[in-house]
Amino acid sequence: MPDLRKLLDKMTIEEKIGQLMQFSSDVFADDGADVTGPRAQYQLTEEDMARVGSILGTNSAETVIKLQKEHLEKDRNKIPLLFMRDVIYGYRTNFPIPLGFGCSFDPALVAECSEMAAKEAAASGIHVTFTPMVDYVRDARWGRVMESCGEEPLLNSRMGAAQVKAFQGEDLRDREHIASCVKHFAAYGGAEAGRDYNTVDLSEHTLREFYLPAYKACVDAGVKMLMPSFNSLNGIPSTGNQWLMKKILREEWGYDGLVISDWGAISELLKHGIAADERQAARMAFDCGCHIEMCSNAYHLHLEELIEEGAISEEQLDDAVMKVLELKEELGLFEDPFRGASSEKEQALFMSEAHRAIAKKAAAESAVLLKNEGVLPFSEEIKRIALIGPFADEKKALGIWKCNGQYDEVTTVREGFAAALPQVEILCAKGCGAEWNDSDDSGFAEAIEIAKKADAVVLCLGEPDDYAGEGNCRTDISLPGLQNRLAKEIAAVNSNTAAVLFNGRPLVLSRLAEAVPAILELWYPGNEGGHAAADLLLGRANPCGKVSMSFPKATGQCPIYYNRNNTGRPKKVEKEGIRTRYNSGYLDCGNLPLYPFGHGLSYSNFIYEDLTLSADSMESDGAIQAKITIYNDSDRAGKEVVQLYMRDLVASMVRPVQQLIDFKKVEFAPYERKEITFEIREPMLRFWNWDQKFISEPGEFQISTGCADHLLHTQTFELK
Ligand code: GLC
Repeated sequence: MPDLRKLLDKMTIEEKIGQLMQFSSDVFADDGADVTGPRAQYQLTEEDMARVGSILGTNSAETVIKLQKEHLEKDRNKIPLLFMRDVIYGYRTNFPIPLGFGCSFDPALVAECSEMAAKEAAASGIHVTFTPMVDYVRDARWGRVMESCGEEPLLNSRMGAAQVKAFQGEDLRDREHIASCVKHFAAYGGAEAGRDYNTVDLSEHTLREFYLPAYKACVDAGVKMLMPSFNSLNGIPSTGNQWLMKKILREEWGYDGLVISDWGAISELLKHGIAADERQAARMAFDCGCHIEMCSNAYHLHLEELIEEGAISEEQLDDAVMKVLELKEELGLFEDPFRGASSEKEQALFMSEAHRAIAKKAAAESAVLLKNEGVLPFSEEIKRIALIGPFADEKKALGIWKCNGQYDEVTTVREGFAAALPQVEILCAKGCGAEWNDSDDSGFAEAIEIAKKADAVVLCLGEPDDYAGEGNCRTDISLPGLQNRLAKEIAAVNSNTAAVLFNGRPLVLSRLAEAVPAILELWYPGNEGGHAAADLLLGRANPCGKVSMSFPKATGQCPIYYNRNNTGRPKKVEKEGIRTRYNSGYLDCGNLPLYPFGHGLSYSNFIYEDLTLSADSMESDGAIQAKITIYNDSDRAGKEVVQLYMRDLVASMVRPVQQLIDFKKVEFAPYERKEITFEIREPMLRFWNWDQKFISEPGEFQISTGCADHLLHTQTFELK
């Protein structure tokens, strides 16, 4: 184990600053000859390159080994490089996008997926993943909702912490684990109007109540790195925001790990108009505790002069560099700079049978049965099935953060059915495109023809997989193009029709829901989506997912979320089209979403028989048991996400009409009755009050089960 202090003491200032620089792998492929190449862009000499501390975005063990070898030959101090990547929902074997796996309400499942991703990434020489993204989201116009686990702080927190622990394991010397970096701190998901990188302006109360908890859960889970967000937060960009980066993160939360900027975010302080030049930007970011600069060169150009002028002390620099060296040491890189990465390992792990099985299970458990009016599951006796729509046989459905996922390794719905029912005749027609401006309906006739002939029809619809993710925001989040009309015309000729959806955000499904009797939300389901789709539609798997983010009735409802306040004039009547005046409603649409948070159907029939509380009052140091009795009145085994909601009826601040305070995923055998017990304790009742104290207040609380906007068996108790 190297003596890091000794190593640090012999490093020059340039070498120390080099450890705080990260560039993408293309910069290292650039021999510097091209005066417009990335190396020239960053003003990097050969000597500068030899001092760089980490590289972003390599995609194979071979590349990592080559770059590491070349680097160690050049680096006077023989300090190994760190290699970092966005392993968001799988490295090569992709599982569903986070907004999808959030619907599984299954941290253990997500941990299994993350462990798989860590193994594959580590085999490829990746040491750090920029995951989990735990940005709290309420506006589906924002493309990056796909990367989040949705609109519930508790769900985001549990899923984020599960990913951190799974990626990192108990000991980073274990070569099947890699370091985790939580992002984007903070409140990137609050971008105004759902427009990426846009202004975020939130009260401290809202920040602390909804937007910050999941980052803290990851800090408490021991995350090794954190990435500030691009956005300005209440007037100051996160990267240069002292309140956020020092008061909250360091002083209140006690985070003492590494911080890396987002791509170019330090330089973007100039565009925000918060720094007059790169020098000021460098100082601002460094003073906020941003250690590594990703893909910009403010530190490269200005840190040294800032230190020489005493604006930044060498102790501050040494502290930052020591954190980088310590992470490299924790990962065992000084002993083995290649950390066991190898092409052989990659080949053994990538899309292995075991990994595909995990991906398929995750795809099935992340799917949400939104609607089912007696159509699903299809009978296995069907002789002819029609698969219609732009995603019936579409391999391009992994989403833009697919990492090393390969489109040609995706199982489509057609392939899934061919494998599941080899004897069935499969008819396939695209019918129309999925682009927002697609207006060509010449494919309708063929689609209608095959629908007429089929025993069952699957409409495979959605939004192209580059319509979600970074920079991909939409002003209209309905099904793009002619898909709604196609659905209507297909369902008109065959009532045994179900729609499956491939998308990266909650879409507006009002017209689709009017047209078809069944809708199964698959999200971008990963490599095994086609197999999971066939299993779910044929009843070989029983849907158990629950909505992680509200599905609006209209884009105009965004932002829409379940944990809303009541207002002084709550809309009493949700009936569409009824003009109700003088309340917080719309003339042309209801207030409630089409499908609320926590909603999801099953092929089982779960009867919520009762909810009882062990007492009608509780001291602040006490506990109350909530017992929910559920009966599976069906011959199908199934899983149910049992949700526990609370409402604080009167408090010193307005409180949400419902808040999820716990959830458990429970398996039921056919005709099985179970009693599920939750423990309610005072900390679950707390909120951030006007003085920014996290407190509970005595008074009456309602406890319910069911799902948002469909609460069941509401009971009341008093907190003394
Ligand atoms: C991007 C994203 C961030 C990602 C980083 C590195 O701009 O905002 O989520 O981790 O760059 O790829």
